[in-house]
Amino acid sequence: MTRAAVVGAAGYAGAELTRLLLGHPSFELACVTSGQDEGRPVRELYPALAMCDLVYSPHDTSVVVASRAEIAFLAVPHTAAMALAPALLDAGMTVIDASADFRLRDPELFTAWYGTPHTAPGLIDEAVYGLPELWRVALPGTRLVACPGCYPTATLLAAAPAVRADFVISGRVIVDAISGVSGAGRTPGPVTHFVNATESVAAYKVGSHRHTPEIVQGLADLGLQTPSVVFTPHLAPLDRGLLSTVYLEVEPGLLPEEAYTAYADAYASEPFVTVCQPGVQPATAHVRGSNRAHIGVALDQSSGTLVVTCAIDNLVKGTAGQAVQCANIVLGYDETAGLDMPVPVV
Ligand SMILES: NC(=O)c1ccc[n+]([C@@H]2O[C@H](COP(=O)([O-])OP(=O)(O)OC[C@H]3O[C@@H](n4cnc5c(N)ncnc54)[C@H](OP(=O)(O)O)[C@@H]3O)[C@@H](O)[C@H]2O)c1
Repeated sequence: MTRAAVVGAAGYAGAELTRLLLGHPSFELACVTSGQDEGRPVRELYPALAMCDLVYSPHDTSVVVASRAEIAFLAVPHTAAMALAPALLDAGMTVIDASADFRLRDPELFTAWYGTPHTAPGLIDEAVYGLPELWRVALPGTRLVACPGCYPTATLLAAAPAVRADFVISGRVIVDAISGVSGAGRTPGPVTHFVNATESVAAYKVGSHRHTPEIVQGLADLGLQTPSVVFTPHLAPLDRGLLSTVYLEVEPGLLPEEAYTAYADAYASEPFVTVCQPGVQPATAHVRGSNRAHIGVALDQSSGTLVVTCAIDNLVKGTAGQAVQCANIVLGYDETAGLDMPVPVV
């Protein structure tokens, strides 16, 4: 068993990590932290976690180290993770970070998009971007994993097979994506207030969402020449779930069955990715609570556009599940350990 800590465990991503680690065969949850809920039992804040007998400890790296955890999952806001990671790494722990702090390889790009200098730039180079289906090989044995954002996860999984198969003839990629309200975290605000969020769908941060440079970086890593991304996120009245629709200009003459085969082949051996049958579209309800990604592939021949949709649960494949999947690979456990559970079908 590996002793694990979740820092930021009272937030939505942290609570989901708590849920997954409690059911994991190879992790023992040793420490969960919260500032505003310090001293409170987990089961009191989250009655669904009634099987958990832990109490929230303060956000303090010395407390995390004292718990003798060997691995720390950071489910904290950007800037908080880069403040915590150095001490945890110095103590010999493996760090799996769900925040944006170590995703962008260019610290100046981080400053430009996040409005603050990077305080641990020396760690950026060693951080491994944790999207196993696309870059699994770099993960085993690493000590710092930068888990992708939820929108980049779905978007890059949707784009990758077409880019790698060289079907795509333009770097201009359009991404329309929809997320449930839990993507905004636990603290309610005017936009996420039930009365304002329900029965309504709206775009937000058009042309300015911070996941844009991460998607561009990922597309370039996949081999797309000079990617230019138009990314429009939308908030939908769902508690969880994310659907990304990616529009790729493809070579004339590409046949629908060629496009479909590229996707089916690329993901044939992936335990968490399902490519829907031709004509079938994925839905967020089909992946709810799971670490799965469902992908739909359609070729709009009249415009020469491959339209790929990818549905994930933002709190699982989009955050906590992917973090556990990465940790499994880093530590040499079965990649699906603790993640291959049946989920509700209605
Ligand atoms: N929600 C998603 O769907 C999603 C998807 C992908 C990635 N992420 C990323 O995961 C991280 C957590 O997101 P979330 O949605 O769970 O947010 P959240 O619900 O707002 O929770 C944030 C947690 O971070 C803790 N925290 C805040 N400031 C801190 C600090 N300075 N030091 C240590 N801990 C601090 C909070 O502690 P208290 O208990 O004291 O409030 C809380 O437990 C973020 O970086 C987010 O971008 C989230």
